[in-house]
Amino acid sequence: MASKPWLTHQAALISLLILWRDSVICTGLAVDPPEDLVILDHGHLGRLELTWSPPASLVDVPDCLLRYQLEYFNTYWDSWSAIRTSSRSYSAQFDLMKDVRVRVYTLLSGPCTNGTLIKSTKYTEVVQKPSSTGEAVQDVICVFHNMEYMECKWGRNPKILASSQLNLYFWHKELEHAEECPKYIISDGVRSGCDFTETSLPDFTDINLCVNGSSFDGPLKPTFMSLQTQNQVKPGTTDKLYLHTNPDMQLEIQWECPVGGVPEDCLEWEVEHNQEGSDGRMTLQQILTTKETSITLASNHENERSCFRVRSKLHKYCVDKSFWSEWSQPICHPAFQMKKDAPEPEWGMVPVYVYIAVAVIIMLMLSLCVWGVLKVRRSRQEKKPDSLLTTLFARSSVLTVAEA
Ligand SMILES: *[C@@H]1O[C@H](CO)[C@@H](O)[C@H](O)[C@H]1NC(C)=O
Ligand SMILES: *[C@@H]1O[C@H](CO)[C@@H](O)[C@H](O)[C@H]1NC(C)=O
Repeated sequence: MASKPWLTHQAALISLLILWRDSVICTGLAVDPPEDLVILDHGHLGRLELTWSPPASLVDVPDCLLRYQLEYFNTYWDSWSAIRTSSRSYSAQFDLMKDVRVRVYTLLSGPCTNGTLIKSTKYTEVVQKPSSTGEAVQDVICVFHNMEYMECKWGRNPKILASSQLNLYFWHKELEHAEECPKYIISDGVRSGCDFTETSLPDFTDINLCVNGSSFDGPLKPTFMSLQTQNQVKPGTTDKLYLHTNPDMQLEIQWECPVGGVPEDCLEWEVEHNQEGSDGRMTLQQILTTKETSITLASNHENERSCFRVRSKLHKYCVDKSFWSEWSQPICHPAFQMKKDAPEPEWGMVPVYVYIAVAVIIMLMLSLCVWGVLKVRRSRQEKKPDSLLTTLFARSSVLTVAEA
């Protein structure tokens, strides 16, 4: 019986010790999350500034390094991004058509934590919802044509009234404020795009775009985009293609790079090879990819015709993405269509010949008929007065009889 109080005493002592140790960890090494997390929108169309303050509970501990871990949902990559900073603000690019989610933790390190990194167990979070009223324009596409001029176009949303006023705004880090499109592209009396020909846009930096507007029903839902000009390039169309046959019956196709600002070393090419049989039927279609501006192929068979056309885009070693150029005009060997056994009139011409022949025949027959009818009538008219008179006389004589 005497041992029990002793045991209780010892247990109490142990729990006190544990409590004391925990409190040391709590006051000395645990830390609260930051406070006053705010999302600031300076009208930079997706570039947002995030600010916060240190936890009020944090006493100024000497030899302590205070930092923050900021996490935000990167809607472009569809994953969380994290950065560590000792600053109390950070700017990041967001897609304002989606939720903006930001979390921030407090971090402590240095001699005060004996070299280990202490992270607040909780975080402070802010979620900003997009403004989602009204209709938006569709398929905004920006193309940097041959690296000479940039054009952004959007598709027509049938739900947007034609009387709506559409606007495009853009911003990049060299601009203090978002600017409106310098020159709108108008089609069917409606703004359908923006022409940046006269505006120099920096490359390798984010350019934020917003297409918004208003209609009788109220504001339209804004569309936001962020792009870098070097990733929107569509090279010019190749217009100089040459084709020769070697003495050893090989076909050599050569072409020139489009004139313009596109760096030639960055271009990759697609060569489309069509082989046509003597009956005009396609026997082979092949796409060849090359970084060179020439290609040599084994010659085609005697009675076959080879046609080639090329297009280009920027290689992924130079840029993240690129648009294909338009295909060049085809070049063929032999240059002209081979003679067919019997020259056939072209399709589409046959019915025209037939129609003309039929029309001529019908006209002839019609005029014959008309002439015939007229002739018969004339001959009848000559006879008619006689017969009419006889009937009249006959009738009146009958009538007279009746009256009598
Ligand atoms: C600090 O860490 C070292 C080695 O990891 C250890 O020997 C020392 O006791 C720790 N000091 C404190 C105050 O925790
Ligand atoms: C469109 O966006 C610009 C830039 O943010 C803004 O100044 C303008 O008021 C907006 N217009 C409409 C109709 O929402």
